[in-house]
Amino acid sequence: MGEATARRLAAAGAQVVIVDRDQAKGERVAGELNGKFAPADVTSEAEVAAAVEVATATAPLRTCIHCAGIGWAERTLNRAGDPHSLETFRKVLDINLVGTFNVLRLVAAGMSANEPDEQDERGVIVNTASIAAYDGQIGQAAYSASKGGVVALTLTAARDLAAVGIRVCTIAPGLIDTPLLGGLPAESRDALAQSVLFPKRLGVPDDFASLAVEVVRNGYLNGEVIRMDAGIRMPPK
Ligand SMILES: NC(=O)c1ccc[n+]([C@@H]2O[C@H](COP(=O)([O-])OP(=O)(O)OC[C@H]3O[C@@H](n4cnc5c(N)ncnc54)[C@H](O)[C@@H]3O)[C@@H](O)[C@H]2O)c1
Repeated sequence: MGEATARRLAAAGAQVVIVDRDQAKGERVAGELNGKFAPADVTSEAEVAAAVEVATATAPLRTCIHCAGIGWAERTLNRAGDPHSLETFRKVLDINLVGTFNVLRLVAAGMSANEPDEQDERGVIVNTASIAAYDGQIGQAAYSASKGGVVALTLTAARDLAAVGIRVCTIAPGLIDTPLLGGLPAESRDALAQSVLFPKRLGVPDDFASLAVEVVRNGYLNGEVIRMDAGIRMPPK
């Protein structure tokens, strides 16, 4: 989804800086878009600060689309009665929630130095949650909690950053056909598609990219979490 959004932004004329811990993929996409790649783990203060410096040295940093995240499946108690590992719970929270806040706070500091535009806006930050924040399925305790944190952060961060003219919104995608789902057999993916209300298909990364670019364009969107899920409400499993 991050790649698809970078492609749309580059096509619209933006100078793009890709930040990812996957160096090979990041460099390939940045190369294709005449952009830059800054390697960083979103949980690292120093690496994200360095990536923000790369961005601010390239052009005014006005847009941040945060898509880094990991999935995880583990029950609160497994069938043998063993409790969820605290280590994996912390890891998912660290990447999906703490990583999102780490990027948001450092990007906001970089954006605050921008000249305001004619709407007094200095920048916009778009985070990625998931419908699992609302309809977390069996085995998604860590993932749902991490994405619920991103949802709850949205309005507060928008309020904190209003004084410097930075908008904050979050997209909560439904079932999107990315490498994350690509590993499933075709019949499981078809079954997932049938569980969607309408249209009966999995989302594609460009569905996300199109909405992310609209959030950037529409200066009246702020403090909001937008479900992008074709109306699905996920059952327990
Ligand atoms: N695919 C779905 O159905 C779906 C649904 C709802 C929400 N999401 C969320 O959307 C976001 C994008 O997911 P995707 O489906 O495009 O997955 P993806 O695996 O294709 O992309 C995630 C990217 O994040 C990077 N990443 C992971 N951990 C990182 C870290 N610590 N530091 C820096 N980079 C890191 C990965 O290298 C990868 O490039 C994620 O936050 C995911 O939780 C996905």
